[in-house]
Amino acid sequence: MSCIILPAESQSEELKGTLSVYVSPSIRHQIEQPDMNNDPYSLADQPVSQSAISLLEGLATTRAIRRYTNEQIPHEHLRDILYSATRAPSGSNRQPFRFLVLTEGEQAQQAKALIATSAQEIWTAKEQADGYGQGSGADPNSPKSRMAKTMRSYVEHFADVPALILPCLVRYRAPDPMEGASVYPAVQNLLLAARALGYGGVITGFHKPVESELKTLLDIPEEVFVACTLTLGKPQGKHGPVRRRPLKEFVFTDKWGKAADWAIDPPGTRFTSAGPPQKQGQRPI
Ligand SMILES: Cc1cc2nc3c(=O)[nH]c(=O)nc-3n(C[C@H](O)[C@H](O)[C@H](O)COP(=O)(O)O)c2cc1C
Repeated sequence: MSCIILPAESQSEELKGTLSVYVSPSIRHQIEQPDMNNDPYSLADQPVSQSAISLLEGLATTRAIRRYTNEQIPHEHLRDILYSATRAPSGSNRQPFRFLVLTEGEQAQQAKALIATSAQEIWTAKEQADGYGQGSGADPNSPKSRMAKTMRSYVEHFADVPALILPCLVRYRAPDPMEGASVYPAVQNLLLAARALGYGGVITGFHKPVESELKTLLDIPEEVFVACTLTLGKPQGKHGPVRRRPLKEFVFTDKWGKAADWAIDPPGTRFTSAGPPQKQGQRPI
C-alpha cells in the first residue's frame, strides 16, 4: 500500500492539522467497493484479483455450472477472467484466440436468443433420443432426472445468462486437428479464472446450428472458427469436486493399457460411471 503523508504547508486551510494519506487506486477500490460497472478508477492501475482458493483446488472443483443468479459480472472481474484466459499457450505463441463477450447490449440479447432457440432444439432431441424420461429417469430424484431437469432449465433460461462468450480461433492456415490446442487451453483458463473469482460456466456446442446467422449478426469474419459457446455467471448452487473415472484408467506407463502403479486417486475423490461408449466385446480404452 502506498502511503504519502502530505506536509502541513501543502494542505488546504481546512485540512491543516489533519493527516492526509494517499491510497493507490486499487487499494481505494478495496476500501470503497464502488459500483464496479461504473468504474471511477482505471483498470490499468488495478492488479488482477487475488484468489482465496489454490490452483489445484480450483482445478478439482471447476464443474459445469448451468444455473446462474441474475447478477451481472462486473467489468473488473470480466477483465481478470479474460486476462487469465489470454495467458494460455498457443502454437508459436501466435495467440490466434479471440473472445466475443456478450452481456447486456442489443446484439448480446439477439445472440443469446438465437443460441437459446438452438439449445432448446438440441436438448429436446437429445432428451428423447437418450431416453432421459425412461428407466431411472422416471424417478425424480435419480441423477438422470436431476440432470434432465438442470438441462431443461438451462436451455429455457439460456437467453438470460449473465454472459455469453464466444471463444474463437482466427485461422491463418488450413483447418487442422491440432488447431484446437491454440484455443481450448485459453477456454479452460477462462473457466478456471472464473472459478477462482466465484463464477461458473460451461462449454457448449449450441451455437453450431446457427453459426452462420451468428456470424452475420456479430460481424464475425468467415475465416474465424467459433470454437464453442460458453456461458458464465454466479452459480445458484455450490461448486464441488468434479467426478471422473479412476486415475488408473487414464494413465498408462510403458505400454498402452498398463496402469501406472502411482496412478492412485487421493482421498475424497468422487467417481462417475460416465465414460466413453463401449462396443460389445471391445476391450476398454
Ligand atoms: C467439447 C465439449 C462440448 C460440450 N457441449 C456441451 C453442450 O452442448 N451442452 C452442455 O450443456 N454442456 C456441454 N459440455 C459440458 C459437459 O457436459 C461437461 O463438461 C461434462 O459433463 C463434465 O461436467 P463436470 O465437469 O461438471 O463433471 C461440453 C463440454 C465439452 C468439453
